[in-house]
Amino acid sequence: MGKGLFITGTDTGVGKTFVAGLLASLLRARGIDVGVMKPVETGCPWRDGRLEPQDALYLKERAGAADPLDEICPYALEMPAAPLVAAEAAGVAIDLDRIAGWFRDLSERHQLTLVEGAGGLMVPLTDMADTTHLVQKLRIPVLVVTRTSLGTINHTLLTCHWARQKRLSILGVVLNSPTGPPDPAEEANLEALAARLPTPLLGRIPYFPKASYDLSRVRESLDVDGLLARLGHP
Ligand SMILES: Nc1ncnc2c1ncn2[C@@H]1O[C@H](COP(=O)(O)OP(=O)(O)OP(=O)(O)O)[C@@H](O)[C@H]1O
Ligand SMILES: [Mg+2]
Repeated sequence: MGKGLFITGTDTGVGKTFVAGLLASLLRARGIDVGVMKPVETGCPWRDGRLEPQDALYLKERAGAADPLDEICPYALEMPAAPLVAAEAAGVAIDLDRIAGWFRDLSERHQLTLVEGAGGLMVPLTDMADTTHLVQKLRIPVLVVTRTSLGTINHTLLTCHWARQKRLSILGVVLNSPTGPPDPAEEANLEALAARLPTPLLGRIPYFPKASYDLSRVRESLDVDGLLARLGHP
C-alpha cells in the first residue's frame, strides 16, 4: 500500500486545495505516482445532472490521476456548509469506515495519496465524529496549511496543539498567502509564528495573482525533499 498525507488547514479558504495541487504537481514532476482524495466536498455545483466537486476535480487534474471522480470524492454535497450540515440537508449519512476503505483502495494504486479535508480538524462529519477522527482512522500524517494574514499565530498554534493532543502525526506547516502578499506587520508576525511552531515549516507559498504559477519557478517555495524525508519516502 502506498503512503498517504492528510492536508488540513486552520480554516476554510486558506489554500488547502491550492497547496495540495502544487504539491501534487511537484511530486508528479519527480515521477512520483500521486493519488488524490477529497472525501467530503460541500458547495458542489450541478453539472450535467450531477453534483461536481470542484476541489476534487482540480486535485485530480493536478495529480494526473485516472481514478473516477466519484472515488476521489465519494460524498459530493450541494449545500455550502460544514459536511455534517450539508449531509443532513441531503439526507446522507457520512460513513468514516467507508471513506477509510475507499482511501485504502486509492492508496494501493498510488505511491502517495493526498487527502484534502473539509475546513479544519474539528469540523464535524457526523453527530459523533469530526475530521480528527477521520485522520485517526486513516492513520496518516497531517500537513497544516495556514494563511499569512493576521490571526494566523493563534489559529496555527491551536491547530498544532489540538493535533498533538489527539496524537495525530504532524508532518509540518505550510504558510500560504491566498489573498495577497503579507504587509510588513504580517511579515514580522510570521517570524513570531515560525519561532513558536512545534513542527517544521515546510513551505512558504507566495501570493500568485489569478492563482496561476510557473511550476519551474515555485520549487523553492515548498520543501518537497524535507516532506518526503519526513514521510519516509525512499
Ligand atoms: N498562493 C495563492 N495565490 C493566489 N491565490 C491563491 C493562493 N492560495 C489559494 N488561492 C486562491 O484562494 C482561494 C481559496 O483557496 P483554496 O480553495 O485552495 O482554499 P481551501 O482551504 O482549499 O478552501 P476549502 O476549505 O473551501 O476547501 C482559491 O480561489 C485559490 O485559487
Ligand atoms: Mg479546498
